[in-house]
Amino acid sequence: MSELAILGGPKTRTESYPAWPVWDQRDIDAVTEVIKSGRWGGYPYPGPKTAELAKRFAEMQGGGYAVPMANGTITMEVALRAAGIGWGDEVIVPGYTFQATASAPMGAGAIPVIVDVDPNNYCLDPKAAERAITSKTRAIIPVHLGANMADMDSIMVLAEKHDLIVIEDCAHAHGAKWNGRGAGTIGHFGSFSLQSSKTLTTGEGGILLCRTPELAAKAASIIDCGRPHALGGGAEDDSMDYQVGGNFRLSEIAAALALVGVERFPAQAKEREAMADYMDEALSEIPGIRLLRRDARHTTRSFYRYIFAINPDEFGMEHDLLAGALDSEGIEADTGYEAMNKYTLFQPHKSRLAVPNAFPEYFDFTNMKLPAAERASEHEAVWFDENVFRAGQKGVDDAIAAIRKIQANAKELNEAADELRTKYGR
Ligand SMILES: Cc1ncc(COP(=O)(O)O)c(C=O)c1O
Repeated sequence: MSELAILGGPKTRTESYPAWPVWDQRDIDAVTEVIKSGRWGGYPYPGPKTAELAKRFAEMQGGGYAVPMANGTITMEVALRAAGIGWGDEVIVPGYTFQATASAPMGAGAIPVIVDVDPNNYCLDPKAAERAITSKTRAIIPVHLGANMADMDSIMVLAEKHDLIVIEDCAHAHGAKWNGRGAGTIGHFGSFSLQSSKTLTTGEGGILLCRTPELAAKAASIIDCGRPHALGGGAEDDSMDYQVGGNFRLSEIAAALALVGVERFPAQAKEREAMADYMDEALSEIPGIRLLRRDARHTTRSFYRYIFAINPDEFGMEHDLLAGALDSEGIEADTGYEAMNKYTLFQPHKSRLAVPNAFPEYFDFTNMKLPAAERASEHEAVWFDENVFRAGQKGVDDAIAAIRKIQANAKELNEAADELRTKYGR
C-alpha cells in the first residue's frame, strides 16, 4: 500500500483543523440584543452598532474614517466613486488576486489595467505599476496578499508623483502593519472584507477606511442610496449634496457580530503569528521550498492565508500535486489564484459588462505576459488556510510532516500525476 493518503495510504492528520468562524455566548448575546432592540437593518445609516464598529475598527487599524458596508468588493467601487473616478479612467491592479480587485473598477465604469506582481511576495510590483501609467491612470489598487503587504512606500511615491489615488485592498490584511502603520491607513482608502472566510468576519460585510472626513461622507452617501452624510460618514446631513447611490449598508446584526470579532481579534492574530513564525523556520529547512520575502518594513503580519513557493524541479513535483496530496493528508492547502491574464471571465462576449465591451482592447490578453503571476499560479504557490495556525504547534508539525512525507514519495506521486489530475479535474 502507498504511504500517501492521496493514493490510499494513511492520513498524516486525522483530526480536523479548528473551524472558522469561531463563536461563543458573546456572539449570541450581541445578536440577541440587536434582535430585541428591533433595530435590525442599516437604515437610518449608521445605526448604533455600525457607528460603534466604525469607531472601533479605525482604532484597531490605527487611523482613518471607517464606513462599514455590505462587502469588500463594493468598498473598492465606492472608494473609486467617492474619489471621482469613473468612465474610461484607468485603474492599475495586480494580476494575482481575487477577481473582485478588478471587477470593482468595472463597477465604477473604470478600466482595470492588469500588471504583474513581485515574485518575492506575490504583491503588486511597483515597477510594473509605473510602466503601466498613462495619461488616463487615476488610481492603483495594491493587494496585501495572503500574509504579505505590497511595498507601500514605493507605491505612495508613485502615487504622489503621478497624482493617483491609492486604494489598499486589505481583504487579507486585517491587523497588518507597515512601518507601524495599519494596513488601509497608508493609501487614500483601505478596503476590508468581513466575508465568512476572513480573519475578521460577520458572515458578509465590508469596511472602507477613508483618509479624510470628506471622502468618508461621500462613501457613506453612495452606500445609503445617495442620502447626504456628515463629514466622517456620520449621521444624515441634509445641508450636504445628494448623489447617485444604492443600498450597500451593513445591517446592525452584522455590525454587532463584527464588534465581538474585533474584541477577539488580537488574541487570534497573536496565536497565528507565533505559529507562522514556527512554520517559517520549519519550512526553510525543506529543499525546494522558498519562503515569500517578508519586507523589514512589514512590522506586523496578519494571516489570512500563508503562501509559500516551491521550485518544482528541486522540490520534486508541481505545486498542484503537492497541494492535492496535502489536502488528502488532512492539511488544508490549495494552489491559490489563477493569473488574471488567463481569465476568460472578463472577456466582452462573456461578461456582457459595459466596460469590457466599450474598451475591448484592454481585455485582449493574448499578448499579455505576467511572468511572476503565471509562475505562482501554474507552478509555485501553495496556500495554507489560516486554521493551520490555530491548532498549536502540532498543527504546524503535522503540516511539515505531511510535506516531508509527500516529498519522500515524489516518484510515486509523479507516476500517478495524470490519473490524479483527471480525477481531481486539474
Ligand atoms: C483580495 C480580495 N479582495 C476582495 C475580496 C472581496 O471581498 P467580498 O467577498 O467581501 O466582496 C476578496 C474576498 O472575498 C479578496 O480575497
